[in-house]
Amino acid sequence: MKNTALILLLLIVGLCSFRSLQHGKPEKGLKDYYKSYFPIGVAVSARSLQGEEGQFILKHFNSLTPENSMKMGPIHPEQNRYNWKESDAIVDFAQKNGLKVRGHNLCWHEQTPNWMFKNADGSEVSKDTLLNRLRDHIYTVVKRYKGKIYAWDVVNEAIDDNPDNFLRESPWLKIIGEDFIAKAFQYAHEADPDAQLFYNDYNTERPEKRERIFKLLQKLVKQGVPVHGVGLQGHWSLFEPSKKELEETIQRYASLGLKVQITELDVSVYPWEKERRKLRPGEQQAYSKDMETKQSAKYNEIFSVLRAAKPTITGVTFWNVSDKYSWLDFYPVQGRKNYPLLFDANYKPKAAYWGVVDF
Ligand code: GLA
Repeated sequence: MKNTALILLLLIVGLCSFRSLQHGKPEKGLKDYYKSYFPIGVAVSARSLQGEEGQFILKHFNSLTPENSMKMGPIHPEQNRYNWKESDAIVDFAQKNGLKVRGHNLCWHEQTPNWMFKNADGSEVSKDTLLNRLRDHIYTVVKRYKGKIYAWDVVNEAIDDNPDNFLRESPWLKIIGEDFIAKAFQYAHEADPDAQLFYNDYNTERPEKRERIFKLLQKLVKQGVPVHGVGLQGHWSLFEPSKKELEETIQRYASLGLKVQITELDVSVYPWEKERRKLRPGEQQAYSKDMETKQSAKYNEIFSVLRAAKPTITGVTFWNVSDKYSWLDFYPVQGRKNYPLLFDANYKPKAAYWGVVDF
């Protein structure tokens, strides 16, 4: 009799914990809530995949973007030398654990090695030389990870910051001309015909920049360039974009037959600024109740728009894991602590997290 009661008790306890594993919110990770919508990614370094942070990443995310290691400067520091170590480690971790990888990025005006644009004697390379170098770079990197990287940010931030100009006056544009964009996509497609290829940029929801990006993409699509999607970086803030701006942006790009991904999501508690500057006295703020409420509402709004746009939105990636470390602690203001993510500095879900999974 005593034994039967004990067995019964054990059964009940077992059943309860099984149910709570299935239904209890704390056991589910962010990615699980979005299973039927889109993958949820995060920007990482190889180091962040080790130990507890690695386990945390596996719980909440099912896609990885190397934060820096695949950019041209870090991965191809000298003409005849590639640095694969960190990128390989990230791709291996993803393969082992069944995560997707977005490659980032193949052609950009920043974090590009100086040798790329120079001849041995220091003079500027010709258009043909630069195109050859761009093709070699893209072929080498994309082929190495063929079948392991499902999407690439091929060209990053080609639109100028000045609304009166169209394309940014980068060395790519100056030496090759506008064609560098189409060529980069063509090379990436030749290197891996199955990879989804994205144009990636920031402030994509501000109507005037949105239209310049639209113009670029429309041209590429008309020319038959293999571009499959637009990456909205999503470096947003408590102040922008509005719900309407985000909805209209997604519709606008989708009207070209393109997919849309949010590739670098964070919601800064400070207004957006472009230029780097020093911290002003009294400017550093603690994470206030007001920020918490506004940030949670903003994240909630963003994800309700993204869910509603489901067939167009094929991925959402956060730029860093938790408020313990964000690139926004250094940019645009060096040393100004920001709180832009869903998890606090101790990896605890913030109100914003519950705002994202509450649907
Ligand atoms: C841009 C780039 C990213 C990254 C951020 C800052 O958004 O696309 O790779 O450099 O700036 O971390």
